[in-house]
Amino acid sequence: ARVTVVDHPLVQHKLTMMRDGERSTKGFRELLNEIGMLLAYEVTRDLPLEPVTIQTPLQPMEGRRIAGKKLVLAPILRAGVGFLDGMLSLMPSARVAHIGLYRDPDTLQAVEYYFKSPSDLADRTVLVLDPMLATANSAVAAVERLKSRGAKDLRFVCLLAAPEGIARFQEAHPDVPVWTAAIDSHLNDHGYIVPGLGDAGDRMYG
Ligand code: PRP
Repeated sequence: ARVTVVDHPLVQHKLTMMRDGERSTKGFRELLNEIGMLLAYEVTRDLPLEPVTIQTPLQPMEGRRIAGKKLVLAPILRAGVGFLDGMLSLMPSARVAHIGLYRDPDTLQAVEYYFKSPSDLADRTVLVLDPMLATANSAVAAVERLKSRGAKDLRFVCLLAAPEGIARFQEAHPDVPVWTAAIDSHLNDHGYIVPGLGDAGDRMYG
């Protein structure tokens, strides 16, 4: 599956502001929310449309609407929630699946502590949200879990990715395309993306 780097100037400008270690919690949150909207715009660019007949005040016409059922937004807790409000403001009828995973600091394995999703995942496009794709353990586990609940049409959206994480994710889920604002240099010994922006969950929630 393909990787799309969203190189839009607004995204790059905001991302650079987020990387700044001096940025406040408030500023970080606001920027992630704003970038969420911009990424939502890009990741939905090719959604299929279907014709719909409507009545303008003047006459009937054939308009177009997004085909099929409403999308599902699936944030990986905690940091993925930072994308949610921005994306929901563009897709206010989307459904939401919450996926609670934390990364064990020693093994870097993803540990599940919560999972709640709509039951009809098989019929919907699912956008999996997490600002950071580091080792990809979290993303791989989240997508596995969603697939086990029936999801077939998935897309992964992040802010920053490490080359190692992209490789691992593509190997595990070759059918799931990835959108990211940037691909950084590498992972350090603690599994942090370098140069990165630190720990997104901590920067947002403390
Ligand atoms: C961080 C980050 C991602 C994950 C990425 O979450 O927010 O979810 O690690 O790493 P990976 O690609 O190596 O799995 P963390 O476990 O710190 O939880 P938090 O978001 O609740 O802080």
